[in-house]
Amino acid sequence: MFALTPLPLWADDQGQTQFTDHCAACHGLHALGGNGPDIQGSTLNDVVIATRGMDQMPEIDLSEAEQQAIATYLMSLAPEIAAQKLRFEAQITR
Ligand code: HEC
Repeated sequence: MFALTPLPLWADDQGQTQFTDHCAACHGLHALGGNGPDIQGSTLNDVVIATRGMDQMPEIDLSEAEQQAIATYLMSLAPEIAAQKLRFEAQITR
């Protein structure tokens, strides 16, 4: 018998796929780090800034929807870190 699942989390699925395609090679399959740092809990703001390119991280061309999906996925991996970052971002943009 099939269990009835709650609402499908398409955004997370999408984000996980996008993350695996574009980011996992450097940041690890679960974003815990590898050739790049641990980025679990990264917010949309973090993703937008990082994908413009950093020291060793190449610029990565993504649509806004892709950036959002990846951020949603990364935040779901570490909700506490994400919540803290969002509070901090709210303070500095005030
Ligand atoms: C070619 C390897 C590589 C790829 C691919 C890559 N990154 Fe990175 N990323 C890095 C490195 C290395 C850093 C550390 C900063 C630096 O030296 O550039 C970094 C830093 C970051 C940071 C900042 C972390 C911090 O603590 O400041 C975020 C956020 C990030 N990456 C997100 C992503 C996302 C999202 C993707 C996929 C869309 C991605 N990265 C793809 C190598 C990569």
